[in-house]
Amino acid sequence: MQYRPLGRTGVKVSPLCLGCMMFGGKTEPEPSMDIIDRAIDAGINFLDTANVYSRGKSEQVVGDALQRNGKRDRIVLATKVHGRMADDDPNMMGNSRRHIIQQCEASLKRLKTDWIDLYQVHRPRSETPFDETLRALDDLVRAGKVRYLGTSTFAAWQFVEALWVSKELGLNRFVCEQPPYNLLDRRIERELLPMARSHGVAVIPWSPLGQGFLTGKYQRDQAPPEGWRLSPDHFRTKSVLESQRTFDIVDVLKAIAAEKGDGVNAGHIALSWCMTRPGVTSPIIGPRTMEQFEDNLKALEVELGDEDIKRIDEVSPPGDMVAPYYNADFGPSQYRWP
Ligand SMILES: NC(=O)c1ccc[n+]([C@@H]2O[C@H](COP(=O)([O-])OP(=O)(O)OC[C@H]3O[C@@H](n4cnc5c(N)ncnc54)[C@H](OP(=O)(O)O)[C@@H]3O)[C@@H](O)[C@H]2O)c1
Repeated sequence: MQYRPLGRTGVKVSPLCLGCMMFGGKTEPEPSMDIIDRAIDAGINFLDTANVYSRGKSEQVVGDALQRNGKRDRIVLATKVHGRMADDDPNMMGNSRRHIIQQCEASLKRLKTDWIDLYQVHRPRSETPFDETLRALDDLVRAGKVRYLGTSTFAAWQFVEALWVSKELGLNRFVCEQPPYNLLDRRIERELLPMARSHGVAVIPWSPLGQGFLTGKYQRDQAPPEGWRLSPDHFRTKSVLESQRTFDIVDVLKAIAAEKGDGVNAGHIALSWCMTRPGVTSPIIGPRTMEQFEDNLKALEVELGDEDIKRIDEVSPPGDMVAPYYNADFGPSQYRWP
């Protein structure tokens, strides 16, 4: 495994991060823990979860797995705060000092650990000034409960504003951003990736397979079977299945994969592409089953040449968003003004 620096920190992480969003939810605890064990055996040392994933169950399963295998010390453990954790309490979400400190304590208990390696603010929230959020996070670092700070789905200007606030106030800064990035959505190439490279910020993309679409398992003009991630009725994912351009991308991935031979498939090409983009640290894979995990792992062996990249760029141009597959409002427009 060729480990990579997590931005300008001295920490080294595997080129794939294991996303644990399915664990304790669609994936039962026992098989989830088996996937975590297998990932660590394969050399993956980077796990990503969030307090909101199945309202704490994902963190619970990750904590159980690390307790069972005794390998907590080897893992760079990332979790998040921001999402709603109770329906009937206005303070059980967001980026306030109160919520962040309360949720950090709760995450530590569920994860059965004394420290979180990367604590990420899941979304920006304009009603809470950055200084409040950053001071709370800085206190957690100084108290030894958190090692590094990160963000998710921030616009480039929001990230830079946060860097500016931490510099002004002498606080620990964000070192990592977690954005959506895949061949259906290349928007971060416009500003976020150049910003990250310029400031030494790690970038760990989520949904590198477009929630499974880029594996090539969805068929043109055919409704997917029940239970698959992309549903024809879901407002966020409808556009992917309705757009012919998204299927054109998959056709190119399949063609490149066929030329590589040796069991290479469209998903491996999509993952390898994401993993090797300049400025990307580690894409976060989100396997639901052990078979999917084993398959994802094979992407580490796939090499893309200049001609492959050129063909991919022709069908999915740099900076483009072919389908608003996850959230059309990602970025500055998602910033809620008070
Ligand atoms: N920060 C954020 O806001 C945010 C948002 C989303 C995710 N994330 C993080 O990113 C991680 C990955 O996100 P994601 O789950 O959307 O990633 P993804 O890798 O794009 O999609 C994962 C899905 O693809 C399908 N899949 C994976 N491997 C496959 C294979 N070999 N063959 C066929 N289908 C396969 C499965 O769908 P089926 O279940 O349909 O089989 C699986 O659930 C999450 O676990 C989480 O840690 C963060």
